[in-house]
Amino acid sequence: MESKVVKTEGNGGYERNFVSLEITDKEFSSFADLIYRLTGIYITDKKRQLVISRLTKRLKFFGFGTFSEYYDFLHDPAGVIEVREFINQITTNKTDFFREAHHFDFISDTMLPGLHNQNERSVRFWSAGCSTGEEPYTLAIILLETIESFKSRGSWDVKILATDLDTNVMKRTVAGVYEEAKLKPISSALRTKYFSPAGPGLFEAKPILKNLITVKRLNLMDPYPFKKGFNGIFCRNVLIYFTQEDRKRVVNKMHAHIRPGGFLFLGHSESLLADSMGFRNLGHTIYQKL
Ligand SMILES: C[S@@+](CC[C@H](N)C(=O)[O-])C[C@H]1O[C@@H](n2cnc3c(N)ncnc32)[C@H](O)[C@@H]1O
Repeated sequence: MESKVVKTEGNGGYERNFVSLEITDKEFSSFADLIYRLTGIYITDKKRQLVISRLTKRLKFFGFGTFSEYYDFLHDPAGVIEVREFINQITTNKTDFFREAHHFDFISDTMLPGLHNQNERSVRFWSAGCSTGEEPYTLAIILLETIESFKSRGSWDVKILATDLDTNVMKRTVAGVYEEAKLKPISSALRTKYFSPAGPGLFEAKPILKNLITVKRLNLMDPYPFKKGFNGIFCRNVLIYFTQEDRKRVVNKMHAHIRPGGFLFLGHSESLLADSMGFRNLGHTIYQKL
């Protein structure tokens, strides 16, 4: 099969594209419908090349010559087990430690001191769409560092729930192993404190971080099975993949799971009409539940 490297959005920016496979308009719209039904990810024609490039790997793996054969396989009892891998191929997982660092500054400078002053010692965060774990691990570092800085620390109960739809990135979050280049945004003092060498050029998050984080599979389109509310929800760079209606639906569901006075953190291009949705806009894509 002939191949060339093309530039695509996310996942490192470049992907191998097997050019010999064509997708018909009908096949493309069937896949776009299926992706939407399974994930809420809304695929327009602009993403045609990305869909071809990501799915061609799976077609090649199974030896299918057309996209229709792969589509039929996904609907066949024999292909049920492939559905997760199909979804994994479609998600875009770009993330970084300390991405949009102002959110972490807000937590250490404003949010946690506020809880501390109110004698609150229990903190619950949800990283929704956690990808490979850089976001929940950054949160864990910030929470531990901030608590350590308080004069009267007391004993805090900190928990971070990290969820994603993509089972491959979930495994990587659980493993907590990163290439050295990925750790660049973390100061060397914090790197030494919170990561151990784990092979050539690799570093693993220490148990003190891992113990705070629970990783679960959750489709944001499904009902949320939580009994208690969160002090903060991170839902960053996920809503961009959804339709305007689905974004609203997700934010409304999240609103119901934030404690009064708690916070919603969105990605830089995901601003809300906050007042109409039960939040006060604090700027920098930080929203406080009214
Ligand atoms: C671009 S990453 C963002 C990672 C991180 N939040 C950040 O801002 O760095 C988007 C993540 O959302 C996940 N995702 C996409 N659709 C989802 C859905 N319906 N339910 C749960 N997670 C989803 C993807 O698998 C991917 O890991």
